[in-house]
Order: sequence, then structure tokens, then C-alpha cells
Amino acid sequence: MPPQQTNITSATERDAAGLRLDFSIVLSLLRRYWRAFQEWRPRARLTLRDLSDRELMDIGLTRGEIDAISPERAIERLRDSTRTLWGRGGMRQATNSCRPLLRQGKEAIMISHAARPQADVEIRRLTVDDLDLFRDIRAEALRTHPQTFGSPEEDEGGEAMLAAYRRWLDGMVLGAFECGGLMGVAGFYVSPDRRSQHRGHIFTVYVREEGRGKGVGDRLIKELLAHAEARVEQVHLAVLLESTAAINTYKRNGFEIYGTDPAAVRMGEATYDKYFMVRKLGH
Ligand SMILES: CC(C)(COP(=O)(O)OP(=O)(O)OC[C@H]1O[C@@H](n2cnc3c(N)ncnc32)[C@H](O)[C@@H]1OP(=O)(O)O)[C@@H](O)C(=O)NCCC(=O)NCCS
Repeated sequence: MPPQQTNITSATERDAAGLRLDFSIVLSLLRRYWRAFQEWRPRARLTLRDLSDRELMDIGLTRGEIDAISPERAIERLRDSTRTLWGRGGMRQATNSCRPLLRQGKEAIMISHAARPQADVEIRRLTVDDLDLFRDIRAEALRTHPQTFGSPEEDEGGEAMLAAYRRWLDGMVLGAFECGGLMGVAGFYVSPDRRSQHRGHIFTVYVREEGRGKGVGDRLIKELLAHAEARVEQVHLAVLLESTAAINTYKRNGFEIYGTDPAAVRMGEATYDKYFMVRKLGH
């Protein structure tokens, strides 16, 4: 083999070895860039469509704007709404803004409160004209949660009970309406005792099972607190230790537990304790 060729070959081998080295450096750099790109990419690609309806509303978008950004969600809502109305036996109250309050399976409980779909509800003060509606929902509450609700007048039933309900409805009882139906209620009164008139009380807090977990209870409490703000210095309530959902709602709205009422309720052999909770209002 000619010597120059030998030299060429070894020079080529050296160059090739150098190139392999450079190539592996380039390759490892490329890998690092690729990994960094992959990590960066999902954040960079976040668009308005990736946000939930609630998050979009939080940044000030209207329902119409949200539907324009994500028309498929509007179609899904319309489909669900139609299905629910058929399921309830009629389309009589179908409107575009009338969204169902269907629970969406157990997984709904697992997602955070902020991310959970919010219900389209109208909240308004009930009056004696709503007596029948109120009696219905209260009867349901008494039947499904006998440890939580009840009063001497209710035990008596008949006219005494209706008179008590009329008194309540003359005062401050809010109703949450979905598609024209009463989905939830919550009441407030100021202590009648002259020396305790800086204290208000929340009572008859109830949301029908199919409306729960969508912030209806939360909104009712917030509205009652807004009403209480101008009237009292602190708001009290009592809640069963077992009523975790209610306790969560109250805590989220600034209530604190300040005591326990042992065996506040007896039903047969069983007794139930209640927490006393208070929410101080800023004056
Ligand atoms: C307490 C009550 C009014 C809350 O109403 P709501 O509309 O479900 O309230 P919210 O949507 O604000 O949710 C309240 C909490 O309950 C949880 N929850 C309770 N029941 C739920 C259900 N069936 N589905 C999904 N979440 C539920 C929610 O996860 C939420 O907890 P979080 O704060 O950790 O997110 C309602 O559960 C109820 O009527 N309970 C029975 C009566 C009662 O206990 N009344 C209180 C008397 S003091």
C-alpha cells in the first residue's frame, strides 16, 4: 500500500473519530433541546379553549363569547339539556339559558370546587306566594334529613306548620331556581332578643340531591352573607358533625367552628352532636 495512502487512511480515521465525537455531542444536545421543547410545548399551546367555562367566566367572558370560542361545548350543553328535559317528561321550560343540574357521576366529587361546572340558577327571595313550593322542598328535606331539620311547629303539622312557614317567608328565605323549579333554599333571621340583635342566624339550608356539588349551596350562603352584612355583626348556625358537605360550604365562606353541642338531636336511641359555627362580618 503506498505510504501516502496509508497517511490518508489514518487521517481519515482520525477525522472520522473526531466527527463521531462531534456527532455524539450534537446528538446529545439535540436530545436535550427536544426534551426541553417537549416540556415547554404543552404550556405554550394552552389556549382559551383549554380553560373551563368557570375559568373563562372568571376572566370576564360572557356565555356567548365562551360558546363562540368552544361551540362543541354549547352543542353538548344543548344535547344534555334536551335529554334532561325529555327525561323529566316535557320540553315546556326549554330555553337556551336553562341548563340542567344533573350530577355527572361520582367523579364530579373528585374535582376541585373551582373546576366543577357551575349551575345556571336564578336566586331570588321567596315570598308567601311561594308557600306551596317551599312546603314541597321542606317536606323533602325533612324526609331525607330528619336529623338536620325539624321544628316543634313542623311536628304539629297542619295550620301551625303553615303559619310558621308564612312567617319564615315574610322574613328572608332565598330560593335557587333552575328551569323554573325550586332547587335549593336558605334562610336568615336576626336574633329577636334585643340584646342579641347584632347576631344573625342561617337556617333551612337545603339543596335537592340532583343539584348538589355545583355551587348552588355556596351561592345561597354568599347571598345571605351579603344581605346580613348591613344588618348584623356576626352570623351563627348549627350543623351536624356528619354534614361534611354543609361544613365545607360554610368554611369556604369564612365560618369557623366555635363549639360543639353534644347530643343536640335525639332520634330513637341515637343522638347527634352539632357544631356551632360563626362568621364575623367586617364593619
Ligand atoms: C349542604 C348543601 C346545602 C350544599 O349544597 P351544594 O349545592 O351541594 O353546595 P356546593 O356545591 O357549594 O358544595 C358543597 C360541598 O359539598 C360537596 N358535595 C356534597 N354533596 C355532593 C354531591 N352530591 N355531589 C357533589 N358534591 C357534593 C362538594 O364537593 C362541596 O365540597 P368542597 O367544598 O370540598 O368542594 C347540600 O349538600 C345539602 O342540602 N345537604 C343536605 C342538607 C344539609 O346538610 N343542610 C345543611 C344544614 S346546616
